[in-house]
Amino acid sequence: MEFKSRNQGQLLSKIATNDGHGENSPYFDGWKAYDSDPYHPTENPHGVIQMGLAENQLCFDLIQEWIKNNPKASICTAEGAADFKDIAIYQDYHGLPQFRNAVARFMEKVRGNRVRFDPDRIVMSGGATGAQETLAFCLADRGEALLVPTPYYPGNDRDLTWRTGVKLVPVVCESGDAFQITRAALEAAYKQAQDSNIRVKGLLLNNPSNPLGTVIDKQTLQQSLEFTADKNIHLICDEIYSATVSGQPGFTSIAEIVQENPHCNLDLIHIVYSLSKDLGFPGFRVGIVYSYNDAVVSCARKMSSFGLVSTQTQQLIAAMLSDEEFMDKFLAESARRLGKRRADMCEGLGQVGIWNLEGNAGLFCWMDLRRLLKAATYEAELELWRLIVEEVKLNVSPGAAFHCSEPGWFRLVVPAAAGGACHDVAAFADGVAACSSQDLIELEL
Ligand SMILES: Cc1ncc(COP(=O)(O)O)c(C=O)c1O
Repeated sequence: MEFKSRNQGQLLSKIATNDGHGENSPYFDGWKAYDSDPYHPTENPHGVIQMGLAENQLCFDLIQEWIKNNPKASICTAEGAADFKDIAIYQDYHGLPQFRNAVARFMEKVRGNRVRFDPDRIVMSGGATGAQETLAFCLADRGEALLVPTPYYPGNDRDLTWRTGVKLVPVVCESGDAFQITRAALEAAYKQAQDSNIRVKGLLLNNPSNPLGTVIDKQTLQQSLEFTADKNIHLICDEIYSATVSGQPGFTSIAEIVQENPHCNLDLIHIVYSLSKDLGFPGFRVGIVYSYNDAVVSCARKMSSFGLVSTQTQQLIAAMLSDEEFMDKFLAESARRLGKRRADMCEGLGQVGIWNLEGNAGLFCWMDLRRLLKAATYEAELELWRLIVEEVKLNVSPGAAFHCSEPGWFRLVVPAAAGGACHDVAAFADGVAACSSQDLIELEL
């Protein structure tokens, strides 16, 4: 339901009336286009196909089987009902010990057991969304800034800045460097902030990257750590796509880089994580702040009262993640299925001459449609995007929404199962690949 905002400026707070949420952008408009006319193979075959929502729905068959085999983990079952009262009453805001242990262990597993995580440093939040905001509140004051390499996840603008008043300063990465983060780009962004009298408090990396679908290599992580150490600013790594990598290069966590640099200042290092992508459970809102800084852990934990994960969810997740045999199988199969989807998608696009950045991570193809633009401008990009959404009926996301420095790039979410009403996953993926390829050829003609 749309509420009319009659001149509320006088009545409400600046936060309530400003545009900081960002929902008036093409990124969200595409979702609205899908919501009002969702594709269905039989009931609405000409509807909008959702390729703009980063959801990983590929392994729910495995999850369902586990749920059936472990009825005690769900307290609303005959087997679990005895635990209902203990779970329903108030719990310590540190989180259930078994939940924190299981999440720490899971994070280690996803990183090939090359690092250890201390369960006492795990702080809960409402998804990575809440984790980002919590960290922004802990690390920076209103008006201070975090550097963020472009293109970056559009939600960062909302999550890190809207309620905190913190600013984001883009680190401009370019296609000529395969959008890699260079020391020169970091220095330029830092200088730009300084020239504008903005104090930089940290650098936010997203590894693997949304929207690029690539991992950040070890050398770049090392270089980023050196940069933040030199400037004495924080390094935040959003690693929510860490288990979505298939093949090589593999994923390297900042935790590994930290381990290899025993003299680095741990007080400056923080990880954001959630189960929204790696497990595909965004509805559960399980987000994590993992900080090596004791004061940040303590403050974030106090703030977590505003975004606790429900104890019922903690209990279920703790049981599931602790089933090591199941999780090993799940992680391997999920990465395999995602890798196949990504490869099929890229192949389909490649067959019609659409190039995308080489990647093996996340849920994304970062498509280069620059040659389809009427001019190398963001207006032309928006025009092409409208055509794709309204005529081709595909909800993809334009690069401008990700602050991409060059017009003409688009993010396509690998069809990780159907959005909304579509049930035939395989047919959906094939149909989308065929449809997008065909329609884009026609666009070109
Ligand atoms: C890079 C990145 N960070 C954070 C989030 C927010 O995740 P969550 O659903 O756990 O709040 C997303 C969601 O798409 C994302 O892509």
